Amino acid sequence: MAEDFIREVIKSIPEYIPGKTPTKPGIIKLASNENPFGPSPKALEAIAKESSRLHVYPDQKSLLLREALAKKLRLADNNIIVGNGSDEIMQLAAATFLRPGEEVIIPENTFSLYNFFAKIFDGQPKFVPLKNNEQDLDAIAAAITPKTKMIFLCSPHNPTGTYIKSKALEDFLKKVPDKILLIIDEAYVEFVEAKDFPDTIKYVRKGKNILVLRTFSKYYGLAGLRVGYGVSAKDIVGYMFRAKPPFNVNRLAQAGAKAALGDKDFLKKTYATNVEGKKYLCVALDKVGLEYKKTESNFIFINVKRSADDLFLQMMKQGVIIRPLTSFGLPDAIRVSIGTQEQNEKFVAVLSSLL
Ligand SMILES: Cc1ncc(COP(=O)(O)O)c(C=O)c1O
Repeated sequence: MAEDFIREVIKSIPEYIPGKTPTKPGIIKLASNENPFGPSPKALEAIAKESSRLHVYPDQKSLLLREALAKKLRLADNNIIVGNGSDEIMQLAAATFLRPGEEVIIPENTFSLYNFFAKIFDGQPKFVPLKNNEQDLDAIAAAITPKTKMIFLCSPHNPTGTYIKSKALEDFLKKVPDKILLIIDEAYVEFVEAKDFPDTIKYVRKGKNILVLRTFSKYYGLAGLRVGYGVSAKDIVGYMFRAKPPFNVNRLAQAGAKAALGDKDFLKKTYATNVEGKKYLCVALDKVGLEYKKTESNFIFINVKRSADDLFLQMMKQGVIIRPLTSFGLPDAIRVSIGTQEQNEKFVAVLSSLL
């Protein structure tokens, strides 16, 4: 195929590098912040039941799932759009609102898909550096220009696990003009312990120009099922529905996600294990003398002060897959998912042996 057949932007985009998947049994993966207990059992039951109906197209708007989410969030179902992962909600937002050349403000060293979708839809990504490995809201506000169309924030932040405090968000919102869509990615919100974590849904209720993203991939253990959702004003959601492929969320995904929402025992165990695992890892990291960020998520950001890629290879040889943050622009840091106690212990043992 002739080179000039391809859009310029596609030539400039490298392929996404996912967390490495284990190739042999016995290898543990702590690279993609998945649920270490596997999928929600209630989701599995619902999926098995739903599978006899696979010859029939799924509901185009995932209505039953949206109704269940709306009830939980005290909103209307048409404040919610469900996607094939929250990735798809980012894509739909860009497809619906972004015009060529409009600016998208993105925190640097952050989850790469914000940049990816901004570029794919011919937007102009504008990166704002982190400050002490946290999103710098003052600098982000200062980066706003008349061409700014969207701002992405990630809280808890991937990869640092830090979060935007309630008061800081309140102050920031006063500086964001109404015509800008603020997208807050809360993929890890269910793991938060901090009392001053903001209730962002409150701003949706108030009619702010805000889109909150959430997912079933982490807490609910359904990364392979691909279900995420966006929460926003009815008109924003309504326009995004127009850009959506009709049957974007399959039957099994809709049924499984809805059932997972009510899987209390599984969710309780997931949260409690994460809290305990976090404590264990922090103590262990203090002992080996590595710097890390206090995390509100199901992973920990560690400054290893050496080549993260080398450490990744060495750890993989010993059966532990972690995430080197070179592709995030942080070549001396790693991100490690909090696993079961047994997995955490193995991680600490392997890490200590290599330091
Ligand atoms: C911050 C953040 N947002 C979104 C996603 C993607 O979620 P989903 O699986 O729902 O597409 C991830 C996955 O790693 C993430 O870390």
